[in-house]
Amino acid sequence: MSLPSSLSLATRHALVCGASAGIGRATAMALAELGARVTTLARSQEALGELQPQLLRAGAAEAHVVVTDLDAPSALDAAITTWLDAHGPAHILVHNTGGPPGGRLLDATAEALQAAFRRHVVSAQRLVQHLLPGMRAAGYGRIVNVLSTSVREPIDHLGVSNTIRAAMSAWAKTLSRELPPGVTINNVLPGYTSTERLASLAQATAERSGRSRAEVESDWRAAVPEKRLGKPEEVAAAIAFLASPAASYIRGVSLAVDGGRLRSI
Ligand SMILES: NC(=O)c1ccc[n+]([C@@H]2O[C@H](COP(=O)([O-])OP(=O)(O)OC[C@H]3O[C@@H](n4cnc5c(N)ncnc54)[C@H](OP(=O)(O)O)[C@@H]3O)[C@@H](O)[C@H]2O)c1
Repeated sequence: MSLPSSLSLATRHALVCGASAGIGRATAMALAELGARVTTLARSQEALGELQPQLLRAGAAEAHVVVTDLDAPSALDAAITTWLDAHGPAHILVHNTGGPPGGRLLDATAEALQAAFRRHVVSAQRLVQHLLPGMRAAGYGRIVNVLSTSVREPIDHLGVSNTIRAAMSAWAKTLSRELPPGVTINNVLPGYTSTERLASLAQATAERSGRSRAEVESDWRAAVPEKRLGKPEEVAAAIAFLASPAASYIRGVSLAVDGGRLRSI
């Protein structure tokens, strides 16, 4: 198979979570451009509805929507069962969702930790359990999790987030040992990526430190060897590659897409 054809997702069906904005939205578009059938999942019906025709114009063979809340396991189970009955199976799962609120870990409540575990680990576990039979039957499965560079180097004032990313990383590595051949699982670790999430983190950092948001973002750019913030499309390109046949022998890795900011190897 030539390299260009090994990137094609023409016969594949992808479920992209957190697809109404930011990295998830860009990922849905990238998978559409590679010809996949794309189902987007988030809480915002309006945003997903607006995206649907854009996915079809970009090249998606079909575009479907699942409106549900990853914080609510029972609702998620019901929504995924209904969707799989109507449109399944799916061969690609992009697990991506909103990051936990900022703050020091010492100040985090038990409820905040439990909520993050439910939103990230529990929803990912439920989705894999729902989708795996279809992946196994097709002999093709790609699970890509959107985590954070904090898997390698914790970020100050993102205590709950740091903790849950490490949990997700351990969860994925464990599954990489258990999943059948042909079904891979990998993580993408975004660095500073221009989305609503990053804008709100910049605002919170500015308020905490008494600087302007522009100064905060300028410091962030200076800390990155590429000297700029990333674009959601740049993270999406890495996810699309890991979802493609071209990545068939990549399993259990965490790929940073951070302009070189991480110092650890
Ligand atoms: N941007 C960065 O610089 C950066 C860096 C490192 C890591 N990350 C992480 O990467 C992930 C994506 O980041 P982003 O910047 O693209 O975030 P974003 O712009 O805030 O988008 C988050 C997406 O997740 C969805 N979502 C949030 N809570 C949900 C829930 N309970 N159930 C279902 N969907 C939910 C949102 O849609 P609805 O509101 O419609 O549900 C939205 O589509 C996050 O976990 C973030 O922390 C981001």
